[in-house]
Amino acid sequence: MPHRSVEQLRRDLSTMTTEELELAVQHHNRLYWVDDAALIPDPLFDQLVERLRSLAPTSPILEAIGPAGAGEELGYGDKVEHEASMLSLDKAYDEETVLKWFDSFEGVAVGSPKIDGIACSLRYGSDGAIRLAATRGDGTRGEVITENVKRIADIPARLDAKDLEVRGEVYMRLSIFKTYEGKYANPRNLAAGALKQKDPAKTGDYRLSFFAYDVLGTELSTELEKFEYLASLGFTPVPTRRLERDQLQTHYQSVVATRFDQDFEMDGVVFRTNQVSEQVRLGVTAHHPRFAIAYKFQGESGASRLVDVLWSVSRTGAINPVAIVEPVFLSGATVTKASLHNLALIEGLGLKHHSTLLMSRRGGVIPHVESVLEAGEGDIVYPELCPSCGNGPTVRRNDVLFCPDQTRCLQAQLGLLKHFVDAIDCKGFGPKLIEQLFDDGIVRSPAEFYALQPDTLLHLERMGETLAQKLVGNIEARRELGLADFLRSLSINDLGKVASKVVASHFGSLRAVREASAESIAQIYGLGELTGVSIREGLLERAEVIDRLLEYVTVLDATAEAETSSADGAGPLTGKQFLFTGTLTSMKRKDAQDQVQALGGQTPDNIVKELDYLVIGDEDFAKFQGGWRSSKLKKAESFNAQGARIAIIGETEFLTILKSGTRA
Ligand code: IVH
Repeated sequence: MPHRSVEQLRRDLSTMTTEELELAVQHHNRLYWVDDAALIPDPLFDQLVERLRSLAPTSPILEAIGPAGAGEELGYGDKVEHEASMLSLDKAYDEETVLKWFDSFEGVAVGSPKIDGIACSLRYGSDGAIRLAATRGDGTRGEVITENVKRIADIPARLDAKDLEVRGEVYMRLSIFKTYEGKYANPRNLAAGALKQKDPAKTGDYRLSFFAYDVLGTELSTELEKFEYLASLGFTPVPTRRLERDQLQTHYQSVVATRFDQDFEMDGVVFRTNQVSEQVRLGVTAHHPRFAIAYKFQGESGASRLVDVLWSVSRTGAINPVAIVEPVFLSGATVTKASLHNLALIEGLGLKHHSTLLMSRRGGVIPHVESVLEAGEGDIVYPELCPSCGNGPTVRRNDVLFCPDQTRCLQAQLGLLKHFVDAIDCKGFGPKLIEQLFDDGIVRSPAEFYALQPDTLLHLERMGETLAQKLVGNIEARRELGLADFLRSLSINDLGKVASKVVASHFGSLRAVREASAESIAQIYGLGELTGVSIREGLLERAEVIDRLLEYVTVLDATAEAETSSADGAGPLTGKQFLFTGTLTSMKRKDAQDQVQALGGQTPDNIVKELDYLVIGDEDFAKFQGGWRSSKLKKAESFNAQGARIAIIGETEFLTILKSGTRA
């Protein structure tokens, strides 16, 4: 978003976020002191400052108000754009994934420990002196820490080389961390705090260290050469070895085995393609380069025994298995159960009653059954009757067990009703109330919400006249529903938020949707065959629910709905402008534009300052990382330099936005 006008600032003042306020204060401070071109009246500037002070009294921007903070030199607390994004790494947890990765390129790999520190970019200027240092931040913009890194012994202040960027990890040695014992959670947190000291001399007191892992701006053709070069410049490169395919797993195992002998903390092994030409060929996604992968250490794991398998019914009628295990303490929490996801997993593990299991928490959080350590006895019997409603026989579709009659199944129906009020955005009907209405036989199907009268509600527990009136009023207000909301409210498998919108805007009316064949649904971009079938089947299964609802509600056609939704700003991308550059690999540009529009967004033909996203096709994203610029890109960057806020993103991130309706 570009900087706000005076009117916009006045209007938005009370709703701006801390980050927005910081940017505005910094911007207008600079306009006043450096450019001598103040755009806003002084009292408004003061209001911005006061608002920022009340939200974030310790914001460094507050310290930098006035001529001192306005210099063109970037200083402490400023945000700075990275020259090339600082991406994350793709993760692997097993050998198979790593080998598959290795097979995607020619030549050997290199491996180094994944240091658990703070990623940092160091830019050296034409005189060889360090010019700018920044943290990773959100990958696109980081925080300036130039003066701080000058206090780190491993970071040379001047190089015998010019115009280079070195990247690496700032960390605290364990031997130094020990002297702070007990006061801080881990060396990483302490190092982060130490690095961001306002007084750079204090950073020096913490005796931080630095491992270099990359150098940008050279013509070197392999990683190994880069590491040698880094060493010759006076850096400490992260310990790195050249690895053939059959050495990957043994290298990982030897790092795991010697992990606790080192003076630094690590959380995995980073493998990289050695040959730079191969790295360029593989390219990057918006999130990570394809030429590197982090083989992460397994989180803590521990043995436990299977006590039972429970079956829980979801609103789509799926009956999901859950393993109940003897309590085991892992990564700071006691685990007593873990989802078994589907029948294929039970069968794949060869799970039996009383099996001894290896339990873990995936990503350090989600309880997970890794493997069976000791086979138990007695097969796990799949329920023949639905554990919620008792109807049978249950039906197996692919690897999922379903209740044969969701329409009479308590759990499925409750889930369905809860989802219905959510999807049509009807307030006041919480889970407890819905359960009471269901138990008393008052509401058993979505249409019955509309038949509610204050009197029927009154005999429920804790229900007063005012509340009863209000609830009936709320549901009355939802008698006109947009097609997309209506479709989503039906709890049909695969007809979620985005699919509902796409289907609605494609077919236009409920009638056309109900008449559509599985094939014609499948042909809508991005849905595909299986989804087509499951939406079609879902619509047929819900025919009665739909017919009953139609006695009460009017479903607006999608075009009519688009008009109302742009009036009240309902689409997830409403107000957002997208422009495309380069070649998209996942779809035609026209389809991408259609999808943005279906979600309420706009797709101008040319680059404008108000643009929110410039999407670079994946085919060109690698070139972008390497410095290539299309004319649209150059324009976007110059707008950004003038204060616009155009996010430059890759195709993968664009697809995520389409799916979720928000930026990942
Ligand atoms: S290579 C695209 N090597 O891990 C990034 N990164 O989770 C290529 N990290 O942001 C980086 N140790 O800060 C590399 N030996 C190592 C590393 C390492 C730690 C960090 C790095 C990156 C993060 C990704």
